[in-house]
Amino acid sequence: MNQDVAAIILAAGDGVRMKSPQPKVCCEVLLKPMLCWVVDACLKTGVEAERICAVISDCPGKIPSLLPQGVRTAVQKERRGTGHAVRMAEEFLREVKSRGARDAAVLCGDAPFMDDKTLSAALSFHRAGGYAVTVLTAEFDDPSRYGRIVRENGRFCRIAEAADASREELAIREVNSGSYWFSIDSLLSLLPLLDDRNAQGEYYLTDLVELAGASGLTAGAFVCPDARSALGANDPRALAALNRVARAFVLDTLRDGGVNIPFDDGVVVSPDAVVGCGTTVLPGCMLEGRTSIGAGCVVGPNTRIIDCEIGDGCTIESSRLEKSRVGNGVRIGPFSQIRPGCTIADRVKIGNFVEVKNSSLGEKTSAAHLTYIGDSDFGAHINIGCGVVTVNYDGRGKYRTTVKDNAFVGCNANLIAPVTVGEGAYVAAGTTVTEDVEPGALAIGRARQVQKPGWARTRT
Ligand code: UD1
Ligand code: CA
Repeated sequence: MNQDVAAIILAAGDGVRMKSPQPKVCCEVLLKPMLCWVVDACLKTGVEAERICAVISDCPGKIPSLLPQGVRTAVQKERRGTGHAVRMAEEFLREVKSRGARDAAVLCGDAPFMDDKTLSAALSFHRAGGYAVTVLTAEFDDPSRYGRIVRENGRFCRIAEAADASREELAIREVNSGSYWFSIDSLLSLLPLLDDRNAQGEYYLTDLVELAGASGLTAGAFVCPDARSALGANDPRALAALNRVARAFVLDTLRDGGVNIPFDDGVVVSPDAVVGCGTTVLPGCMLEGRTSIGAGCVVGPNTRIIDCEIGDGCTIESSRLEKSRVGNGVRIGPFSQIRPGCTIADRVKIGNFVEVKNSSLGEKTSAAHLTYIGDSDFGAHINIGCGVVTVNYDGRGKYRTTVKDNAFVGCNANLIAPVTVGEGAYVAAGTTVTEDVEPGALAIGRARQVQKPGWARTRT
């Protein structure tokens, strides 16, 4: 962890322009709230959680639940501009300074692609230049509403907000990303000098560049090596554009790592997902959250995997998996569901219309068709026949089913929990198991078949 840096994330904006009931920074890019992208970038840059402060409004919606433990907040009651928002974090700045922080990043919660590499490079530039403030900039073909970087005789002297800019300034293509490194001392001395005399009647953080110059301090402009780092979203269309950029970027990065994605169609992969070399991802797959998939798997088509850890050499087709661990060489689908809390060992087979919840399945166990396994511990090498159901719920409580290694559970058996089927035991097809089955025994619990010869002829 980098002891002498801190970060402020501006997140007090509402969702009005975004047409969102939640604060704008909660809007998701690749299914991850924009704010979380920014927090993760700070952590990866080496800023410890206790030295990150999010400026939030007094109606912060779900923001507090998105912040990792330790991250601080400062409340901005009235939305009076980015400079005003940073003022709300003055106390935080003084405190981190007293604990040794020298520089603070100020970041926009609505610009998710500002990454740790860019931030670290900009910090080196900032320190090498001895700047009071370093603005991270980017060159855009269409600079639209971004603030413009104004240079006079080559020297960076101020930022012109689009609403206030002259026609000449609007022609400038170098823009303010909304991310900065400040020397904390300079930031604390300059913040009180801001005013709201501009087109929007707001306290612009961007005015600190000119104010630094007027106070005999210098400002640096660090051009982001990849202009995409500066992209932000103020409305639904811009958010959709960020999703397109991020999706293509993640898929290309996976391809560079040897993942085979023959078609982009419907393939959405979280920025926090990991996919091993030689794995194929077919159309219609969403790999969400912190999912990791090993090497040499075939995933899809039409599969959704949320926060799962999957081994090597698995095939998963047309299925949904959530918060579970899957070993190597496992075959899942088509049309299977693995609900949260499952541990599936190597070479297990889970076939069509099989649902598994909060259960473990041992090596090479097979549930090939039409089965429900809930709250259960199945050992290794077990055959689970078609239509087997663990009866885990009596209307009040949930109970566990245990089936030991090498058991054979015949078709259409009900295992009424709590119950244990011993090692190597057999359960006959159609049995409703209400009592434990001893190891090596055969349990049959069904009415004996009655034959009525010639019965059909006697029907009227
Ligand atoms: C800002 C910059 C602009 C830059 C752009 C990059 C200013 C004055 N302008 O413009 O130069 O090109 O970002 O995306 O800084 N926020 C608060 N409290 C407020 C106002 C804003 O917390 O009172 C937060 C917002 O939630 C948002 C961020 O600050 O996360 C930026 O605010 P926004 O209104 O989106 O600024 P832009 O107009 O995009
Ligand atoms: Ca913005």
